[in-house]
Amino acid sequence: MNAPNLSPRSSRPTFTEFFAGSGLVSLALAPFFQPVWVNDICPKKAAVYRANHEGAPFRLESIVDVRGADLPAATLSWASFPCQDLSLAGNGAGIRAKRSGLAWEWLRVIDEMRHRPPVLAAENVAGLVSAHNGGHYRALHQALTERGYLVGAMLLDAVRWLPHSRPRVFVVAVDRRAAIPSSLLADGPTWAHNPAVCRAANGLEHWVWWRLPEPAPHRTTLSDLLDLAAPCHDAATSRRNLSLIPEEHLRRLQQSPLPAVPGYKRTRHGRQVLELRFDDVAGCLRTPAGGSSRQMLVVRRDDAWHTRILTPREAARLMGAPDSFLLPGTNSDGYKAMGDAVAAPVAAHLAEHLLVKLAQACAGLDAPQASGASSPA
Ligand SMILES: C[S@@+](CC[C@H](N)C(=O)[O-])C[C@H]1O[C@@H](n2cnc3c(N)ncnc32)[C@H](O)[C@@H]1O
Repeated sequence: MNAPNLSPRSSRPTFTEFFAGSGLVSLALAPFFQPVWVNDICPKKAAVYRANHEGAPFRLESIVDVRGADLPAATLSWASFPCQDLSLAGNGAGIRAKRSGLAWEWLRVIDEMRHRPPVLAAENVAGLVSAHNGGHYRALHQALTERGYLVGAMLLDAVRWLPHSRPRVFVVAVDRRAAIPSSLLADGPTWAHNPAVCRAANGLEHWVWWRLPEPAPHRTTLSDLLDLAAPCHDAATSRRNLSLIPEEHLRRLQQSPLPAVPGYKRTRHGRQVLELRFDDVAGCLRTPAGGSSRQMLVVRRDDAWHTRILTPREAARLMGAPDSFLLPGTNSDGYKAMGDAVAAPVAAHLAEHLLVKLAQACAGLDAPQASGASSPA
């Protein structure tokens, strides 16, 4: 197997992507990195990925069946590993559980590679740093530092780029031997480090405070991204949904100048309610799997309120996908593909301002040396 081409003069450094889903990370990274191997287990996501990344080296298989020795060398390895065991809406089983525990399979594959990628990026929900008093993050951190990496986590909320509240943790690791430019390093917490990240980082060896520029403020609102003519529920369904809105939210709805207001159905004190938000920002998109509800819109039309769910195209816009991004399959497939995804402009910001610079800083390095990496189990 060839050693990774880490020359800063090569056109784009290479990357492998695990848990690639519908391909928004690949889309975001494309100007900066060249994909050499991409993987996901879900045939429906694979259809979305392939429709948008013609000729990409996508492999439809479980990571469990992937052998690192078969992978091409790459500078960056990205993993948006499953979040169900770390998310608030999930079971809280943690990073050693069946689904989120696939993070260890990622590390196992990396261990099996002849040249470990010198730059790693992992993405997951905020629970990775906040749940279990930061214990899930610390387990991952230790596993990475044992493999010779310097590691730091950031909490980046898509709302800084899009009208979509979606806080996500991004863990970035780099070979400790890299000559990291001082412009990428901060002395302590920055705008990208929330209190949960700071608590999780407390006292950790080989921790790094990454410095990212703050994104320029944007003015796009949820109303800007909606198809205001999209069909609404029938009158009876709308009436039923509207009857679930709590009184205070109903009062605010009557006064709202917005053409549409988003909300989620939740159970409060044993009763189903439809809770709305009025800041013209969508709540965090979720995958409809596992019983969580889809984001609903309360839409003003002909001086009356109606309800509908977000369309897959609206969901894609909220993830920063251009309208040219194809969503094959049913509406439900499209919604699911987007509910699970990484917001593209967030991944692009990270790639442009940190990952590609770290890739350059690693030019000429061999694979990081293992220093007694322990088994995660
Ligand atoms: C959080 S999503 C990542 C989404 C993706 N980064 C995107 O932007 O669309 C986790 C992904 O892991 C995939 N997955 C779950 N189990 C897997 C396995 N055993 N092997 C490979 N992929 C798996 C799921 O199909 C899902 O697409």
